Amino acid sequence: MKSWAPINLNVGLVVGVLFVLLTYLVLSQQAASSGLNVAATVAQWIMDKHLTTNGPGETFVASDVQQTAEKQAAQDSGGSAAAEKGKVVYNTKGSYSETCEVDGDVRINSTALSVTLVPASWSERREWRIWPYSRKNLPDIKMVTVTQLEDKAAAPPCTETYNIPAVLFALGGLTGNFWHDFGDVLVPLFIASRHYDGEVQFLISNMKPWWPAAYRTILQRLSKYDAVNLDVDDDAQHVRCFPHVTVGIHMHNGGLSIVPEWAPGGGRLSMADFTRFMREVYALPRDAPASLVREPGKRPRLLLVHRGHSRRFMNEQEILRAAEAAGFEAVAVDLRRDVTVDAQARVVNSFDVLLGVHGAGLTNAVFLPPGAVLVQVVPYGKMDTIATLEFGLPAKEMGLKYLDYVVSAEESTLLEMLGPEHPAIKDPDSIHRSGWDKMTEFYLNKQDVRIDVARFAPVLAQAFDHLHQQ
Ligand SMILES: *[C@@H]1O[C@H](CO)[C@@H](O)[C@H](O)[C@H]1NC(C)=O
Repeated sequence: MKSWAPINLNVGLVVGVLFVLLTYLVLSQQAASSGLNVAATVAQWIMDKHLTTNGPGETFVASDVQQTAEKQAAQDSGGSAAAEKGKVVYNTKGSYSETCEVDGDVRINSTALSVTLVPASWSERREWRIWPYSRKNLPDIKMVTVTQLEDKAAAPPCTETYNIPAVLFALGGLTGNFWHDFGDVLVPLFIASRHYDGEVQFLISNMKPWWPAAYRTILQRLSKYDAVNLDVDDDAQHVRCFPHVTVGIHMHNGGLSIVPEWAPGGGRLSMADFTRFMREVYALPRDAPASLVREPGKRPRLLLVHRGHSRRFMNEQEILRAAEAAGFEAVAVDLRRDVTVDAQARVVNSFDVLLGVHGAGLTNAVFLPPGAVLVQVVPYGKMDTIATLEFGLPAKEMGLKYLDYVVSAEESTLLEMLGPEHPAIKDPDSIHRSGWDKMTEFYLNKQDVRIDVARFAPVLAQAFDHLHQQ
């Protein structure tokens, strides 16, 4: 259970960058007004750049288009009711992910990583190649072939038949970074499986064994059955059969965001539902912040997220004193040191304000009680749009009060390191234009911050006032 923490730290630095690559190139060229527009723009950019690669002979499917194979005739002498429905629905809404809902007589060969829909009667043969990770085009992810057969003759015989649906998804990818663990897997998996109320079989490819161990508490609530590791099936004649399989999991707007209308099963899920689920799963006691109305004199609790490497607070003690002066009980916590996610969730839930520099640690906001406050300190270098997309908008979807504080050049260690004439200080736009690696090198990896507590005081006051109104 401990092993996820160190991985978290190192991979996090690298992979945080990868998402930023996608986000940033667009932002550097466009003064986007709102984060939602940015999400759409990023999605569009991904498609324009043909990062959405389709193999030869495949049809490119545009965003928001669902392709539905023809419903098959229900007449089959030996056919089951499930087989009569037989269809495949391809979905790439939002453009980050692609999924196939395969309904009917579905047979899975894990050696080939193929999912086959066996029609009840003759139908057109169709094939899809699906990235089962929620972000397309990550190089190490094994693709899944979904095939709708022409007829039953070519179908592999079932060796194991389930009467519950399955969700097939990949780990690997960018998992290991706390933000990606939630945004790329846990939230999309919640969307895909919550409506089954535990009666669903998870099938995992690109397995990382530490991952289901680290998130066991969540996975056990989503599925009552042990997940199947598709990587280790060495019997090529083993064919698992299901009445319905969801191939791939769907990330809606990038990371910690849910579009209620897109949730399957008419569930209309939201991020508020996801955080309610977190409180249920981890038995978190608080579903509201400290009430200063009901408990006058009680000091609300502020958690400052301590970071060990880049984007550190250089004057952590001074910030804590400023928070105390503003009326909070304030502590710095290194959330990634040798604790389970379960323990971490309980710690975070006991606070009313989460304060930290932009980074994966802010993902802990999912454990805060609704109505609590997330304060994001945005590093120097025109990083506010990325910050808003990754944490600002999600915080609002979770029902949190969101505040941000944009670091000035004077508060950034980049100024003393590079001098006032360096382009990274004088002209951040030029750094953004020169490429994502320069942008992440300067603004995410080399930068620490020394907060001017006088300039920061109004943000603390705003957080306090918000809690005062609860
Ligand atoms: C499953 O796929 C493997 C690899 O393509 C193949 O050798 C095997 O025959 C398949 N099994 C069945 C039952 O079709």
